[in-house]
Amino acid sequence: MSNKATLEIDGKKYEFPLIVGTENEVAIDVKSLRSATGGVITIDPGYKNTGSCESAITFLDGEKGILRYRGYSIEELAEKADFLEVAYLLIFGELPTQDELDKFHSDIKSHSVVDDDIKKILEAFPKSAHPMGVLSSLTSALTAFNPTSVDVDSEEEMYNAIVRILGKFPVLVAWTMRKKHGMPLEYGDDSLGYVENVLKMMFKSPNGDYEQNPILVNALDKLLILHADHEQNCSTSTVRIAGSSHAGLFVSLASGISALWGPLHGGANQAVLEMLEAIKEDDGDTKKYMAKAKDKEDPFRLMGFGHRVYKNFDPRAKIIKVAADEVLSQLGVEDPILDIAKGLEKEALEDSYFVDRKLYPNVDFYSGIIYRAMGIPVEMFTVMFALGRLPGWIAQWKEMRTKKEPIGRPRQLYIGETYREFKTIKNR
Ligand code: SDX
Repeated sequence: MSNKATLEIDGKKYEFPLIVGTENEVAIDVKSLRSATGGVITIDPGYKNTGSCESAITFLDGEKGILRYRGYSIEELAEKADFLEVAYLLIFGELPTQDELDKFHSDIKSHSVVDDDIKKILEAFPKSAHPMGVLSSLTSALTAFNPTSVDVDSEEEMYNAIVRILGKFPVLVAWTMRKKHGMPLEYGDDSLGYVENVLKMMFKSPNGDYEQNPILVNALDKLLILHADHEQNCSTSTVRIAGSSHAGLFVSLASGISALWGPLHGGANQAVLEMLEAIKEDDGDTKKYMAKAKDKEDPFRLMGFGHRVYKNFDPRAKIIKVAADEVLSQLGVEDPILDIAKGLEKEALEDSYFVDRKLYPNVDFYSGIIYRAMGIPVEMFTVMFALGRLPGWIAQWKEMRTKKEPIGRPRQLYIGETYREFKTIKNR
């Protein structure tokens, strides 16, 4: 293949280098486009055809349904690794040795206390506040208590910022849930594993101890791994562009949490459960909802279906679907919602509207069924997505800053009024 692309405008030819990635993906390097052509730019709403960066963290093949973190398949990682190992892999690029993992966890635990004044901020929120709005605010507020900006050229400072947020974030997640349910804001136990500690902080009752259930621990560990990174998705791109102005790590993460909240993105896991509940209330009438999803006049979309990149099964959805069956049967939970979900999936995969558009179940379609079986309230589902995505956001922010990427500032094509003279108000 040639190593350049040629563009012709008004009979004049312009050449641009082709860049080939390690998975043989090809990109046209248009860095010189505007200057070479005297101002011509590209337009690509939603960046469906536009790469924002070169990254070595996560590889997706949407046509083949492949997902790999630093070259390791999501199937193997979900099966053989734990969440903290995967967090280390994403952030530092290699799977940790036992000593490296033990030190990582110990350093995280040494930062797993948040300033008590955070409770005053939390107390100011009404119980009706959505946990994603609370979590984004508290994450941003961490900057007030950890004001020093990160010198990204200092490995030590970067490492300390990473273990600090990995230590404090689970506390904010747990307290966000406890606040909503009127429970005292308590800490967990440093003798526990990362995921065990999260569960204890979320669920420990004020007047009793919390008994770990290995089924819940394994289920949450797997779900967090499956959500840990996903290359340049909406919220990760938000974290990158916020960080590209050299805004701090905590506030960049807070912006990612806000972007993840949207129902077209991470908020879909909550919307899926609400949709499945509505179908259940509607006597399981999946055909009605399929018709709504296909009706261009109806804004309703089949939540948990479709994906910008995957035009095949989302490999995470396949793993979560199997896990949902396992967790519910291990817990002895009968949830008609799971059967409705499976029925809906079967119908959609046989319907030409979905088949023609290559709309398959995505990561959000089945995850909420497991969260609910674990006793996690539906308004906390996207918060759990954020807990999983945290190491990916950190890894992507760190890659962008240490590679000294330029500030993100897209161009536009102006289509508004051309020059016109000002009219005084009496002449309007
Ligand atoms: C996540 O990017 C990531 O990696 C995200 C994520 C991650 O890990 O970070 O994977 C997590 O966000 C998963 C997606 C969760 N969102 C949902 O489940 C919401 C429902 N899905 C859709 O809104 C939609 O599929 C998107 C937002 C996910 C993708 O939208 P695109 O790529 O912009 O596709 P599109 O809107 O241009 O749709 C193409 C066609 C359109 O029809 P036509 O105009 O061609 O006739 O497919 C239709 C759409 O109307 N379509 C759907 C649909 N999704 C797309 N029709 C009905 N129901 C749907 N769910």
